[in-house]
Amino acid sequence: MSTPGAATPVAASIQPATGKLGIMTVGMGAVCTTLIAGVEAIRKGLAKPIGSISQMGTIRLGKRTDANSPLIRDFVPIAKLDDLVFTGWDIFGGNLYDAAKTAQVLDSVTLEKIRPFLESIKPMPAAFDQHYVKRLTGTHIKSGKNKRDLADQIRKDIQEFKKKTDRQVVIWTGSTEIFLEPTAVHQSLAAFEKGMEDNDPGIAPSQLYAWAALTEGIPFINGAPNLTVDIPAMNELSRKMNAPICGRDFKTGQTFMKSVLAPAFKTRMLGVSGWFSTNILGNRDGEVLDEPGSFKTKEESKLGLLEMILQPDLHPDLYKDIYHKIRINYYPPRADNKESWDNIDIFGWLGYPMQLKVDFLCRDSILAAPLALDLCLFMDLATRTPGLRGLGIQEWLSFYFKAPDSAPGVYPEHDLFIQSMKMKNTLRHIMGEDLITHLGLDYYGE
Ligand SMILES: NC(=O)c1ccc[n+]([C@@H]2O[C@H](COP(=O)([O-])OP(=O)(O)OC[C@H]3O[C@@H](n4cnc5c(N)ncnc54)[C@H](O)[C@@H]3O)[C@@H](O)[C@H]2O)c1
Repeated sequence: MSTPGAATPVAASIQPATGKLGIMTVGMGAVCTTLIAGVEAIRKGLAKPIGSISQMGTIRLGKRTDANSPLIRDFVPIAKLDDLVFTGWDIFGGNLYDAAKTAQVLDSVTLEKIRPFLESIKPMPAAFDQHYVKRLTGTHIKSGKNKRDLADQIRKDIQEFKKKTDRQVVIWTGSTEIFLEPTAVHQSLAAFEKGMEDNDPGIAPSQLYAWAALTEGIPFINGAPNLTVDIPAMNELSRKMNAPICGRDFKTGQTFMKSVLAPAFKTRMLGVSGWFSTNILGNRDGEVLDEPGSFKTKEESKLGLLEMILQPDLHPDLYKDIYHKIRINYYPPRADNKESWDNIDIFGWLGYPMQLKVDFLCRDSILAAPLALDLCLFMDLATRTPGLRGLGIQEWLSFYFKAPDSAPGVYPEHDLFIQSMKMKNTLRHIMGEDLITHLGLDYYGE
């Protein structure tokens, strides 16, 4: 039975996850190869899907005394890992075994065990323009008379893949593009489609893939901080085609920690006067982010969160003067093993200052790959769920993003634990289970 006031549950009408789910990745670098190699290693029983909520997470149903917490993958009808099929695009040719070696994330013992599988996947030529990613020079790219022509070529690639798979998801695991502000060309689908014909500079390659995917009725996930789908034109197309979209930029290392610590300070009404964040990383992503245009895109995506969580307008005594600084430094010796430092200046009772230091020696793509997997599986679920697929933005997946997307006029939710509750309650809701409010008074009834 569902909570009074909640919308009608739709469990009975969710289409089953039968057949093959095709995952198309735009960009086949570190995150993509770690995702695909990881899925294959897990399918072969060589490793466990650690970090994946869809595979290892549980969901409590009913009261605490019911002791009923199934695995999420047994509770909701998501695709099985055995049913996943992969393809994608990159500006470099070759195969995924070579790409994984270049990325230097997974060790050669793991890669050799799945080498034939990885060698069998070869990127399709990409829609690319160096104006949008200045540090890369593409060698495996499409040519066309204008942006519309390139987008139509991507549609043809998707149509071919549709012949081999039953359902599809497109995920951007490509490089960070230069910072773009929304302009007139992004305000409606008609303006956007005309802009593709006119080669409007406001339309980046990532938006050609997004347009092609959504036009084909396929959900689009954005793992990078690019503007891509966070514009009215894509929202319109997404709703028109029942092809979901969600936020941008995987919430993996430093921002993941921020979205845990900032709510902790706020919930205890501790003040924050400064938050200095710096990173060193040496992978190709780090090289791209070393360029000011791409860094600006990343910086914007990372900056918004503190203000959204701390709400200085509601709590001016605690948060109105925060000095928030973010730095990303390209440092090749570390490759994908990023180090991020945070120095946080906080203050407590009577304004007495304190400091907290965080040094996170993380592995970027090891943190990102399970998020990419979950998003593919949940976005496919959303596309099969009548109460979700027509919404456009899937706010319940905010959990995964540095910059979650939300309906116009609604501020996005950044607090990791609120995001987690929102996601689990959405799953309960679509399956017709009671939502969990954590009220708990009924355990102490008179
Ligand atoms: N690794 C993480 O923890 C993490 C976290 C959040 C966001 N991201 C973002 O995810 C993206 C991928 O990260 P990565 O570490 O895999 O980077 P990467 O450089 O290893 O891979 C990106 C790939 O995209 C390709 N590419 C660039 N433009 C393209 C285009 N137009 N079409 C097709 N392919 C294109 C590049 O050739 C490259 O192979 C980046 O934008 C990064 O900022 C990564």
